[in-house]
Amino acid sequence: MQDRLELPSGFRWGVSTAAYQIEGAVDEGGRGPSIWDVFAARPGTVRDGHTGAVACDHYHRYAEDVALMQGLGLDGYRFSVAWPRVVPTGAGAVNAAGLDFYDRLVDALLAAGITPLPTLFHWDLPQALEDGGGWLNRDTAYRFAEYAALVADRLGDRVPAWITLNEPFVHMVYGYALGIHAPGRTLMLDALPAAHHQLLGHGLAAAVLRERGLDVMIANNLTPVRPATDDSADVAAATAYDALHNRLFTDPLLLGRYPDLSAFGVAQDFGGAVRPGDLDLIAGPGLDGLGVNYYNPTRIAAPIDPGLPFTEVPIEGVPRTAFGWPVVPDGLRELLVGLRDRYGASLPPVTITENGCSVADEPAANGSVPDPDRISYLAGHLDALAEAVAEGVDVRGYFTWSLLDNYEWAEGLTQRFGLVHVDFTTQRRTPKASYAWYRDLIAAHHARHTR
Ligand code: FCB
Repeated sequence: MQDRLELPSGFRWGVSTAAYQIEGAVDEGGRGPSIWDVFAARPGTVRDGHTGAVACDHYHRYAEDVALMQGLGLDGYRFSVAWPRVVPTGAGAVNAAGLDFYDRLVDALLAAGITPLPTLFHWDLPQALEDGGGWLNRDTAYRFAEYAALVADRLGDRVPAWITLNEPFVHMVYGYALGIHAPGRTLMLDALPAAHHQLLGHGLAAAVLRERGLDVMIANNLTPVRPATDDSADVAAATAYDALHNRLFTDPLLLGRYPDLSAFGVAQDFGGAVRPGDLDLIAGPGLDGLGVNYYNPTRIAAPIDPGLPFTEVPIEGVPRTAFGWPVVPDGLRELLVGLRDRYGASLPPVTITENGCSVADEPAANGSVPDPDRISYLAGHLDALAEAVAEGVDVRGYFTWSLLDNYEWAEGLTQRFGLVHVDFTTQRRTPKASYAWYRDLIAAHHARHTR
């Protein structure tokens, strides 16, 4: 399959990770507590009581991990900066040792020929800010911009493009509406101000980055939404879900307005959270790139619970990952073409900033880690991506989730997403078969385009 992949010559290949999922060392180097340290320590929140206290011990083993990336021949590496490592209480005092860590990481990446692509917020809010209301408090957006300035001032001379937020939808829904993730609030639709304040934080941080001549992106978790049937009630429910999951986080950025959320019975200003001028700040002069995290489509039917205008129903007849997520590679083509059709000239170049699958991988007796299901997942999605490019969508790069098996949030250490197997007892890293497959695919692409 990979021999036929038609992708542009400057197409960038990468892997993605996030700080809390790999770094460990939560009490070292002056790092302050994050909402994930506090949430994971609470009984019953995370499978098997796992926390990210050690995770992949990347804080100490980053050099080994950069060597693994170099072995893949990557163009780029998407990682996240832990806000509580840089500003332990979220505002005020800066922790020099925290900035030093990312400085060393950036230099190691550049020495390996890999362009760093940092994400400034991947869900590990400093606990001190949560104590003041977290993203429900407008003030958090301003603190985020101050932190963005600190990090950009230190690394901006070597890091050209930045991602502000990771998946504000998932953070709002899992963290503030349903309580499945930190900070564990169960506000249902009253969580909407957490969406707006994240987007406001994006807009304020974007201005800070642009002032420094840096490119600005965001990584949104997007899903093609399919009505369960052609029945008008199912179609209306799918439209409502699409507004909440996709449009709420992309329309304000690309069109400068929120979608119609009347199906949810909420006021367009989210109870006063949206103030005059906010949408101009959020849209700014536009994004330099839209990061798209894609895992699966979503199938929606008319509501059975009167509290929400939709019900999610299973997608039948497709394979599932170890996580139980449906495997629908063509959903990526559908999503990308749908974005282009929806936003037209307002759609900036797209980079796939996450795509991958969890598999119950274990080393075989000879020490190798065969993961044919992951190879087939990735190959199928790359074919779908190439089809979207053939249909005219401007896609500039693909960053697979993830380099390493890591701490998968509420699932603890039980979902393995890595190209590299991690033994969480010994911290031994073993490249899986998919690592060699991805390395060869990248090498073939580079060879075709330097000829
Ligand atoms: C995404 C998250 C990422 C990882 C993958 C599997 O929603 O951004 O941190 O957990 O899912």
